[in-house]
Amino acid sequence: MGKFGILTSGGDCPGLNAVIRGAVLKGETVYGQEFVGFLDGWRGLIEGDVMPLDRSSVRGLAREGGTILGTSRIGPYSEPRGGAENIKKVLDELGIDGVIAIGGEGTASASKRLFEDGINIVGVPKTIDNDLDATDYTFGFDTAVEIATEAIDRLRTTGNSHKRCMVLEVMGRHAGWIALYSGIAGGAHAILIPEQPESLNQICAWVTSVKNRGRSPMVVVAEGFTLPEMDQAHSTKGVDGFNRPRLGGIAEVLAPLIEERTGIETRSTVLGHIQRGGSPTGFDRVLATRLGMAVTDLVADKHWGHMVALRGTAIVRVDFGEALANHKTVPQDQYQEIRVIFG
Ligand code: F6P
Repeated sequence: MGKFGILTSGGDCPGLNAVIRGAVLKGETVYGQEFVGFLDGWRGLIEGDVMPLDRSSVRGLAREGGTILGTSRIGPYSEPRGGAENIKKVLDELGIDGVIAIGGEGTASASKRLFEDGINIVGVPKTIDNDLDATDYTFGFDTAVEIATEAIDRLRTTGNSHKRCMVLEVMGRHAGWIALYSGIAGGAHAILIPEQPESLNQICAWVTSVKNRGRSPMVVVAEGFTLPEMDQAHSTKGVDGFNRPRLGGIAEVLAPLIEERTGIETRSTVLGHIQRGGSPTGFDRVLATRLGMAVTDLVADKHWGHMVALRGTAIVRVDFGEALANHKTVPQDQYQEIRVIFG
């Protein structure tokens, strides 16, 4: 019983629609819950801009990429009309008993604050970067790895034909999970991630040794990777304290440096938002559906201030504070395990 509003916030991610479908189907069937969707993330909640959500509106959604609700990077406290007081008023006017917020770290920390300010809210973790510590995998990650792996396979054939070094940049601002997994799956000769410094000398040594064996080197780099040698001409510190490449993506910085140092013709590709588009993989559809179904148990139990998460093969409940305690970065030993076969 009860009426609940669902929103999707932050960068989109394959599997968002499957979460919405899972929640609506189970919530209606098992608990007699009603749902509406807030449009464009927190904006819809702040402005009371909703669309109806029922069994018929979620038909066929498991395979659809993006989010039917729209998303944005607006925060619930950042707008002039934002804040818990106003949100409480909006929820009362619409007769909504609680909010289900599907999003990443920013969404979880905003949800935590709203919960502490008296809003009935629960969460579903989402990010293609897979960097939320509370959950073993986030939906969207598997899809992104699949797309990046296909990109490596495709770059390999053109690289081989021209005997070039190919550098592929994938997403991952603070964590290199997509680079690590797709790089392993695609058999990259070097994988560069934000968590692990590698010098230009080392990267060029790997590239040269591949070339010396008569092969075309394949380098996969996460967007958050920076060369220790990168000076202010090449990078800039973001508000989060992380260095970011200033001249386009890091792949576009690296490729000419590799070419200059090794004499090997080198090309760069920035995969960008292709990694977030299109249909989710089967794995992501299943995970997203299970999380969506499980979040209806949370609201039925009035277990506010928590989110659902995957631990092993089980869906568990985690409070927002615990969920936000740590960032899940690639551990040193996991990187070293694969690094021994680079080059
Ligand atoms: O946080 C997920 C992510 O995909 C990052 O890897 C990437 O840096 C960012 O989103 C890009 O987001 P935007 O949609 O704002 O360009």
